[in-house]
Amino acid sequence: MNTEHQKKIAAEKATETVQSGMILGLGTGSTVYYALLKLGAMVRDGLDVVGIPTSEGTEQIALEQKIPLTTLAMHPTIDLTIDGADEVDAHLNLIKGGGAALVREKIIANASKKILIVVDESKVSRVLGTNFPLPVEIVRFGWEATQTEVNRICGKSTLRVASTQDGKQNPLITDNGNYILDCHFEGIPAPAAVESQLNNIPGVVENGIFVNRADKVIIGTPAGLRYME
Ligand code: 5RP
Repeated sequence: MNTEHQKKIAAEKATETVQSGMILGLGTGSTVYYALLKLGAMVRDGLDVVGIPTSEGTEQIALEQKIPLTTLAMHPTIDLTIDGADEVDAHLNLIKGGGAALVREKIIANASKKILIVVDESKVSRVLGTNFPLPVEIVRFGWEATQTEVNRICGKSTLRVASTQDGKQNPLITDNGNYILDCHFEGIPAPAAVESQLNNIPGVVENGIFVNRADKVIIGTPAGLRYME
């Protein structure tokens, strides 16, 4: 079973938890994409839900799928969020932000009664920060000074870039108008401490460590589904 299929079965399994009347948090990424397609089909079959997207990309997909959308202002409490992750440890701590949506993802997570994380097997890790660099969203003003402070914690970071249509590399700008530093830790054994140390640096908006947020992780594996909760 290839990685795409692992993502699909995990994401589609998560949609089985969705019931009519729910306010849904709609995560971001290539795994959640399969959940959005499935939710779209369920809505067309009569499922009555409203979603709050975690990124402009997800908003676009949800609109294409005709999933009704709302806002946190209208619905400050979310019944269920389905989101992906870049790394998951055995305590259900996560690294998120590979898709540059970590700020909105954490705001949505904070407003959610229940969070299901959907991943393929490659995302499971013994110690966070060993397989994936930690994304940290920073404001553009004085970003070099912010990076120096961030590097005191992680050692080394790189400014995330995006390719333009003519092949140039520019700094990636998030949906919130900020930059992202990808921080190369040699493992994050104490994620809660690192999460708050990074967020204490002036110029840091948020980082991609999610501690005690996920209720259940649904993992697509070559042998089928596996769960952590
Ligand atoms: C976006 C995220 C994504 O959930 C994470 O990057 C996983 O994405 P994918 O399912 O494409 O591997 O945190 O900011």
